[in-house]
Amino acid sequence: MYQLIDGKAISDQIKTEIAEEVKQLVANGGKQPHLAVIIVGHDGGSETYVAHKVKSCEQVGFKSTRVAFEEDVTEEMLLAKIQEMNQDADIDGFIVQLPLPGHIDEQKIIEAIDYRKDVDGFHPVNVGRMSIGLPCFVSATPSGILELIRRYGIPTRGKNCVVIGRSNIVGKPVASLMMQKGYPGDATVTVCHSRTANLKEICRSADIIIAALGSPGFLKEDMVKDGAVVIDVGTTRVEDAAAKSGFRLKGDVDFANVAPKCSFITPVPGGVGPMTIVSLLRNTLLAAKHNL
Ligand code: GUN
Repeated sequence: MYQLIDGKAISDQIKTEIAEEVKQLVANGGKQPHLAVIIVGHDGGSETYVAHKVKSCEQVGFKSTRVAFEEDVTEEMLLAKIQEMNQDADIDGFIVQLPLPGHIDEQKIIEAIDYRKDVDGFHPVNVGRMSIGLPCFVSATPSGILELIRRYGIPTRGKNCVVIGRSNIVGKPVASLMMQKGYPGDATVTVCHSRTANLKEICRSADIIIAALGSPGFLKEDMVKDGAVVIDVGTTRVEDAAAKSGFRLKGDVDFANVAPKCSFITPVPGGVGPMTIVSLLRNTLLAAKHNL
């Protein structure tokens, strides 16, 4: 029988831990951590994520600021706001919610953020520091995945870990972290992607599979060996007339058929998803403590 990895329960537990730390920090004369979020336009997904981020700040006792721009904001205006936040001593960390409208160069925006306030961990300085194992802000999803592995005590040393997907925000960083010295890490990592020739065989050799390609139900039972650990990072919105919102989230794993073969598996929703916000909160706390 497989064990379900309960990201919701773990994230609630971590929020309680963070709230406790904030209380002590403030009681000792420290500053209340402050996260600012910039959102552009009215993308439904982005608005929902940002609302969750702001609410989570409240839950743990952080101050939060939400700055919204219309879809037609110029790159210059956005860069000016970023400069202002870089220099604002009260703001410990801030993020620009992605994606941005097509007329704005996302990479330019990311690189304008002071890496010491880049709690998303997207700035090349943070990405570079992570890849050579230096203290840094690790981006939310990879950091959330590693925390789940740690809290469930899942063995990683010498294990074959297959990552499906090579995105900059999940596939590449999670592969890099899983191969690093220590725990969770010390794994033998293979990264598969859309041009991989023998994906099924590679997946069948995996002790741990991290599916992060954004293709609903992609990982099937014949691609998974008995006793594997499966981490599902997919969160594709699929239409669902029965749901209040008109859609539901579907992972990259064919859960019903894959789960019976697993030792551990994450559900969607309620697996990796809830962990991403606590990773952001944790980075903000680190920034507030100037621990980097
Ligand atoms: N869009 C989707 N996920 C993220 C994230 O983690 N950070 C930001 N800034 N935008 C996102």
